[in-house]
Amino acid sequence: MGQEIFNHFKLMTTQSHSKKLYIKSYGCQMNTYDAKRMEDILRPLGYQSTELPDDADMVILNTCHIREKATDKVFSDLGRMREHKVNREQNGKEMIIAVAGCVAQAEGDVILQRAKYVDMVFGPQTYHLLPEMVTKINSSYGYARVINTDFPVEEKFDHLPQDNAVSGPTAHLSIQEGCDKFCTFCVVPYTRGSEYSRKVLGIMDEARRLIDQGVKDITLLGQNVNAYHGEAPDGSIWSLARLIEELDKLEGLARIRYTTSHPCDVLDDLVAAHRDVPKLMPYLHLPVQSGSDKILKAMNRKHTVQSYLETIAKFRAARPDIALSSDFIVGFPGETDEDFEATLSLVRQLPFGSAFTFKYSARPGTPAANMQGLVPEKVKDERLQRLQALITASAETYNQSFVGKTLEVLFDGRQAKEGQLHGRTAYNQAVHADAHERLYGTVAEVEITRAGHMALHGHVKTANN
Ligand code: 5AD
Ligand code: SF4
Repeated sequence: MGQEIFNHFKLMTTQSHSKKLYIKSYGCQMNTYDAKRMEDILRPLGYQSTELPDDADMVILNTCHIREKATDKVFSDLGRMREHKVNREQNGKEMIIAVAGCVAQAEGDVILQRAKYVDMVFGPQTYHLLPEMVTKINSSYGYARVINTDFPVEEKFDHLPQDNAVSGPTAHLSIQEGCDKFCTFCVVPYTRGSEYSRKVLGIMDEARRLIDQGVKDITLLGQNVNAYHGEAPDGSIWSLARLIEELDKLEGLARIRYTTSHPCDVLDDLVAAHRDVPKLMPYLHLPVQSGSDKILKAMNRKHTVQSYLETIAKFRAARPDIALSSDFIVGFPGETDEDFEATLSLVRQLPFGSAFTFKYSARPGTPAANMQGLVPEKVKDERLQRLQALITASAETYNQSFVGKTLEVLFDGRQAKEGQLHGRTAYNQAVHADAHERLYGTVAEVEITRAGHMALHGHVKTANN
């Protein structure tokens, strides 16, 4: 009984100290990773995550600047957060509003000027300083405002806490940040800074901690992940492939993936790893952006359609069943019907299992923003639709080719329907399967009975464990 009282007391005290934290993340997987790490940092300060912003003590909008649409969304969401803040203040409560991520990095001053109710602005490289920033705001709420958009990237990874909160059997692990490629349409080199690789030791430690918490599938993240060149404990520099080989040795880990890659940074050892490293999944997300050499040149992509095809051919020679994915931009300045047809033709040549398509949007400060030959919005829309239709058909054909086959699926989600689980194949396809709840978090064999362009459907054959 004494213990019960103690537990009750403990609960009360933690509750009374507990504050609610709402983080909304926009954009890429790197941002999702950063948001998780912000939660990890703020947890010791008493912040517990909440799904709803209206009654949060702190709101962080972890923003994305990559395309116009993503940025617009931030400003409209900020307006909504302001209403919540006003409501709370009318009830005598405080609400810290913070803008983080790449919009904060690029437009921090503008945000503070335009939105007087924003308390904190910090870029992707300074969120390890959150405790100090929060303390400053809390001590003079309503008066102090913080802006921190420096690039002390080395420091960040050294200061992140050692306890990643894990949700489910899959996790992201950031190994590389920033980019030196300077594609003319892209803000990343400006918002995330120049290319930086984390040290091997920190990455291996983080991977082990994730595995200890039940993670089976790790996706290594980087804006240009295959440019990874991190320092190993012996002082040598490891490539992405070498790092993957080391991760492959970790007991308990079943799957390794990486994203996103640049065609010019594909080293032979990465191609070979797809043949030789058992846990490296047969999935390749290799953005090409366009099927026209003229446009690729204007984009400063530093590769041609031919060299892209040759790189893909190398991967397929090493691992014939490798699943292919890519990014495409339509309506880049100067893109003619002919250029666009060349993109369609490239999609017809390769059996893409999936691909992401974007309408070009001019990003402030990038070279392409000053280019002539703007493509009318209506033409961009039409091109996007045609490209998407082709990719959908390609994905459907690809997925259909698995019907009747048995695939290993890692179950990573529960479905609304009882007796069903969500999972992923080695090829990164989503699977909805009839499967017992106890298989959650494990790899099991699933017989594929049906397939659409978005997902496969099937039932569990035998459990592997
Ligand atoms: N307009 C449209 N799409 C863009 N991307 C990056 N910048 C832009 C832009 N200005 C796309 C690219 C990239 C993906 C992450 O976002 O396809 O690979
Ligand atoms: Fe942006 Fe190009 Fe770097 Fe990718 S490779 S992050 S598109 S600059």
